[in-house]
Amino acid sequence: MLMYNIPIMKKLIEKAKNCHDLNREELIALLYNDDIDEDLFAAADEVRKQYVGDEIHLRALIEFSNFCKNNCCYCGLRRDNKNIQRYRIDENTLFALAKHASENMGLKTIVLQSGEDMFFDTDKLCSIIRRIKTLDVALTLSIGEKTLDEYKAYKQAGADRFLLRIETTDKDLYALHDPGMSWENRAQCIRNLGIAGLEIGSGVLVGLPEQKVESFADDILFFKQVQADMIGIGPFIPHPDTPLKDAKGGTLKMALKVMALTRLILPDINIPATTAMETLAPNGQVKALQAGANVIMPNVTLTQYRKHYELYPGKSATNYTPDKSLKEVKDKIAAIGRKVSSGYGYHKRR
Ligand code: 5AD
Ligand code: SF4
Repeated sequence: MLMYNIPIMKKLIEKAKNCHDLNREELIALLYNDDIDEDLFAAADEVRKQYVGDEIHLRALIEFSNFCKNNCCYCGLRRDNKNIQRYRIDENTLFALAKHASENMGLKTIVLQSGEDMFFDTDKLCSIIRRIKTLDVALTLSIGEKTLDEYKAYKQAGADRFLLRIETTDKDLYALHDPGMSWENRAQCIRNLGIAGLEIGSGVLVGLPEQKVESFADDILFFKQVQADMIGIGPFIPHPDTPLKDAKGGTLKMALKVMALTRLILPDINIPATTAMETLAPNGQVKALQAGANVIMPNVTLTQYRKHYELYPGKSATNYTPDKSLKEVKDKIAAIGRKVSSGYGYHKRR
């Protein structure tokens, strides 16, 4: 590995700021060096401003089912976790929530998120999509691995975007932490989103046990290779009812570094300040907004369900109402002199 000194590191950051291109070795050097973090965050902040401006896009997140057929070792919704109460929000309630988010809260994107719940088959989902698309909103789905035909059906019904994190590009690590799942299939699903005409959202966890710094460089190059439209990066936070309960977990700093480098390499994409970042530090999201992020996803799930959607413990704002979550997000944005966008926040390719 190259051990670059600080002046060389600063030059690398300059280069990335202007050319948006770093090779694997250069990414690794920047990930390892902690002396240049403030320069890295400032560069990502500048590139964010230059390419996507000061406006922050808000996405209304609705966690509509916590049933999941998968058993990811890091996640509190894994099927073997018998300590959570499972719920599904019915179509009428879901529509009412989306309507409230759109008409009363002024939110322009609805994100429907769930575990991989087979109850919601293509017909049910398409019916929900069609109904929500009668509102003045863009619609994002975050419901897991599906077939290309299913992705096409969602698009046909009106869906605009889809979030499916690759979680990690280290295939051995993926095999270890995602038993019964295939990394190759997941990567193909992400490419299929683009083929189906959906905006591609992906991302990774930062800080899984045995995850190597080198693999974050591969993650960033993967985001570029699949031409992602949005990338969400979250620190891994151990959940007590999972096999990884005693793991150390990720740090906010490393998650911010991976995020800032992603902004430098993919300058015009949408990047959320993630809830997991906020869970690790009370100002985590604000730090992210000042290190490359331009999106926040306020949770508009009904308070009674929130505590059951426990991907990880301490998930922020579990006792909030939708309106309180929105107010908190807006206050943060105002405090740092940024604006809430009035647009839908599509990814505009240059
Ligand atoms: N800590 C942080 N993020 C998690 N996710 C799942 N479990 C955890 C955890 N323990 C993330 C995964 C998934 C997203 C919906 O939540 O990256 O893609
Ligand atoms: Fe299910 Fe997603 Fe959790 Fe894995 S990360 S167990 S697929 S909800």
